[in-house]
Amino acid sequence: MVSLSDAVPVPTPQCTSLPGGVSVMLPGWLCRVCRNRARWHHLPARGLSWSPRQISRWNKQESSESSQPETPRVLITGGLGQLGVGLAQLLRKQYGTDNVILSDIKKPPTEVFNSGPFVYVDVLDYKNLREMLVNNRITWLVHYSALLSAVGEANVARPQDQHHSTIGAFGPSSPRDPAPDLCVQRPRTIYGVSKVHAELMGEYLHHKYGLDFRCLRYPGIISADTPPGGGTTDYAVQIFHDALSSGRFQSYLRADTRLPMMHVGDCHRATLEYLQAPDCQLSLRTYNIAAMSFTPEEVAQEIRKHLPHLQVTYRPDPVRQTIADSWPMRFDDSNARRDWGWRPAYQLPELVTDMLEAIRQQRSREGLCTS
Ligand SMILES: NC(=O)c1ccc[n+]([C@@H]2O[C@H](COP(=O)([O-])OP(=O)(O)OC[C@H]3O[C@@H](n4cnc5c(N)ncnc54)[C@H](O)[C@@H]3O)[C@@H](O)[C@H]2O)c1
Repeated sequence: MVSLSDAVPVPTPQCTSLPGGVSVMLPGWLCRVCRNRARWHHLPARGLSWSPRQISRWNKQESSESSQPETPRVLITGGLGQLGVGLAQLLRKQYGTDNVILSDIKKPPTEVFNSGPFVYVDVLDYKNLREMLVNNRITWLVHYSALLSAVGEANVARPQDQHHSTIGAFGPSSPRDPAPDLCVQRPRTIYGVSKVHAELMGEYLHHKYGLDFRCLRYPGIISADTPPGGGTTDYAVQIFHDALSSGRFQSYLRADTRLPMMHVGDCHRATLEYLQAPDCQLSLRTYNIAAMSFTPEEVAQEIRKHLPHLQVTYRPDPVRQTIADSWPMRFDDSNARRDWGWRPAYQLPELVTDMLEAIRQQRSREGLCTS
């Protein structure tokens, strides 16, 4: 599986000479299941371990696992952002700690480093990425590396080479309420343009070379555990922190800006379920997933059921407001529901209750008072 929210720095079938005299054909090396699987399993894995970047402390376990070829070996790129660590926890419960490698270009916090394999991978360094996949016998690549929408606009030169997908893959000429899986996609952010590029390249490689490319378009993801990373939907995380700390929140989006959102627990579960879905059930390679859609005013009203004193002011930021106005207000995820049984567990009331409880607990652990 290439990616879930994201696609891949695109490989084309090629013959690659590896140091140490090993020569190997690498078509479909990002595949979960690919045409060349048999060839892949014949590779002498030890013979490929020339690189100083090999993760030696985790390799000891690999030999005992090789008797279970059905267990996936997963690499998550951009794994230190909002979503990677939580997904790694879920996948490690399912497939074993050593079979799920987190990677990023940042230094991991101690607890993340101690919780399982972590390596440096810059997805713009194609050779390093390829080495990591080969040396560690990766079969599923989950591509989370990204510069989110608002940050991407400020760094236009960088995200063109990275690949990912989301509501940002749509633009003002797409149907907005709801946006179906297949429709006109003319996004006006570099974030969105790179998402569409990745979706199309992944689907091309699937149809042409049998790459098991799978891509999910996430809505705005709401999580208490990690700070937001520069997305247009970040207000929907910040409002909970501000409600509990000061009781006041200033929104950078207008009160009536409706966007699709999802609790992080649903996001991780959707990702795992889509990874596990039998290939024969998939009528698409890129699916929308949805849970709820709300405006800043609606989430504020729901929070006031718990914290009646919450005050919200609105000061729209021109960059983020323009981005939000070009995105879908709702996602049509009927294909995901029909093909692989997607169902969200959280609607707005459950999300608000869960977020307030989780952030209250965090604050009390840190000795902070709650408004
Ligand atoms: N969080 C959301 O609300 C949301 C919504 C829709 C889609 N998505 C998509 O899901 C994926 C994960 O989201 P997230 O919120 O965890 O993102 P994030 O911005 O929090 O994290 C992205 C990570 O990518 C890393 N990164 C940046 N450049 C890199 C490079 N060249 N090589 C390797 N790593 C690099 C960053 O260091 C960062 O840790 C992204 O593709 C994002 O576009 C997220």
